[in-house]
Amino acid sequence: MLIKVPSVANLGLETIKVDIEINLANKGLPGFEIVGLADKAVAESKERVRTAIISSEVDFPQKKITVNMAPADVPKEGSTYDLPIAVGILSSVLNFSIPEKSLFLGELSFDGSLRHTKGAFLMALFAKEFGFKNLFVPKDSANEAAAIKGIKVFPVESLTQIYQHLLGQKDIFPVVYKQVKENILDKAEFDMKEILGQEQAKRAMEIAAAGGHNLIMIGSPGSGKTMLARALPGILPPLNEDESLEVTKIFSASGDIPPGGSLVTRRQFRSPHHTASLVGLVGGGSKPHPGEISLAHRGVLFLDEFNEFPRSIMEAMRQPLEDGCLSISRAKQRVIYPADFMLIASANPCPCGYAMHPKKTCSCGPNQIAKYQKRISGPILDRIDLHIAVMPVDTEEFKGNQQNSEFLEASSKIKQRVILAREKQRVRFADEIIHSNSQMKNNQIKTYCKLTSDVEEILRQASLKFNLSARSYMKMIKVARTIADLDNSEEIAVNHMAEALQYKPRNTETA
Ligand SMILES: Nc1ncnc2c1ncn2[C@@H]1O[C@H](COP(=O)(O)OP(=O)(O)O)[C@@H](O)[C@H]1O
Ligand SMILES: [Mg+2]
Repeated sequence: MLIKVPSVANLGLETIKVDIEINLANKGLPGFEIVGLADKAVAESKERVRTAIISSEVDFPQKKITVNMAPADVPKEGSTYDLPIAVGILSSVLNFSIPEKSLFLGELSFDGSLRHTKGAFLMALFAKEFGFKNLFVPKDSANEAAAIKGIKVFPVESLTQIYQHLLGQKDIFPVVYKQVKENILDKAEFDMKEILGQEQAKRAMEIAAAGGHNLIMIGSPGSGKTMLARALPGILPPLNEDESLEVTKIFSASGDIPPGGSLVTRRQFRSPHHTASLVGLVGGGSKPHPGEISLAHRGVLFLDEFNEFPRSIMEAMRQPLEDGCLSISRAKQRVIYPADFMLIASANPCPCGYAMHPKKTCSCGPNQIAKYQKRISGPILDRIDLHIAVMPVDTEEFKGNQQNSEFLEASSKIKQRVILAREKQRVRFADEIIHSNSQMKNNQIKTYCKLTSDVEEILRQASLKFNLSARSYMKMIKVARTIADLDNSEEIAVNHMAEALQYKPRNTETA
């Protein structure tokens, strides 16, 4: 007797259909085998399926059971096939048919209940595209799948519940999608108005947020670098619908949508520590998995104490910073994870941290300082448009300002300007594949950033004076474009370029 139960496999964010074929033979010794390029977790599925069926008070068939997962040349990983395998076996024992146009996914516990399983959202997208009508997924994963309209998502709590439903004894009702509030941690920790002084750094954050520019802050410990970065989420525009879908796909693939979770609607702010592993940060691995840079897609990747990150991580980030995605090639597959994030980095100027401090003395020698600064690789600095020095705020000024902090501009106000500037870019790049000023290539800079002779002259003078590289020259134009957008000006004016030049790279040899 041959039974077919459809499910899916994910290769990165791509989904393909997998047919679980179950053969129950009367001849031969009773046994249970899984074939078809299954990994260890899939092979262990046998034990979970057998025990879960017995726990559900159904006799496990004493037959020679062979499970084949087709197509056989696609690697299958994880525990997502427990449910389709169990449903197939139960259909032969209890005599029900597998409903048409349906897909099954889910991990079983020994007691027959279903656990939250990654990939439900990706499966729902696949179902929608290829005309499947019903999805059977664990209850905790059902809301995630139901974010896609037009398919019925059945929340399954246990094997008993699903066979009673398929036997027509007791219906499971499809879930009604509910957008749940996202983790409060995604919110900004600080409001910009809590940060006293630091006008230039706050302005640089606004420009970065408006044009999607990467930014590096260099300054002594305690100068407020971490605080500035952590205030950034409060001035970022919300994700639009398409961006929200893109981010949710990545989160579904990595299993980062919590039980009962829904669409990701907030721009992410990820701040991995410098002790994070290369695979954890960049992604990949023997079973490819999205890393922090992909979880930060369309959001912010904050690398605090940037020069403490190992060289290997900096090197591995070069390609994604250039291409906006990470591509991984393995013998049997090639997967691509989007990784279009804004990099915000912070660093101390020297090992002791006080090289730039107005009052404290630095105990490092010039060679030590040079070596320390070289730890940030040149090609990475090349991808950073905004460079700022963060000086500690004067404690006296601090005291004076503390009473006045209510007069400082709140994040919500800055965010309005950022949203308007992004809107200008959306219109500008409607026919392009890019969406922000920071992504412009040279030909696009030529088209969208026409400079008047006055502006060109300022830039030329500055290039000579500060020995700017050709690349830095282009960065300054992109930054000036964003400053003009924030000023609601079609033309890049002299004051826009003059301001952009304040954020030029400090170390002109490397950038
Ligand atoms: N400009 C500022 N306004 C208000 N508080 C500040 C400012 N600068 C520093 N602080 C205080 O000092 C603490 C340390 O700042 P932090 O951002 O961690 O510095 P850094 O990352 O540069 O070492 C902050 O949590 C905040 O309480
Ligand atoms: Mg810090």
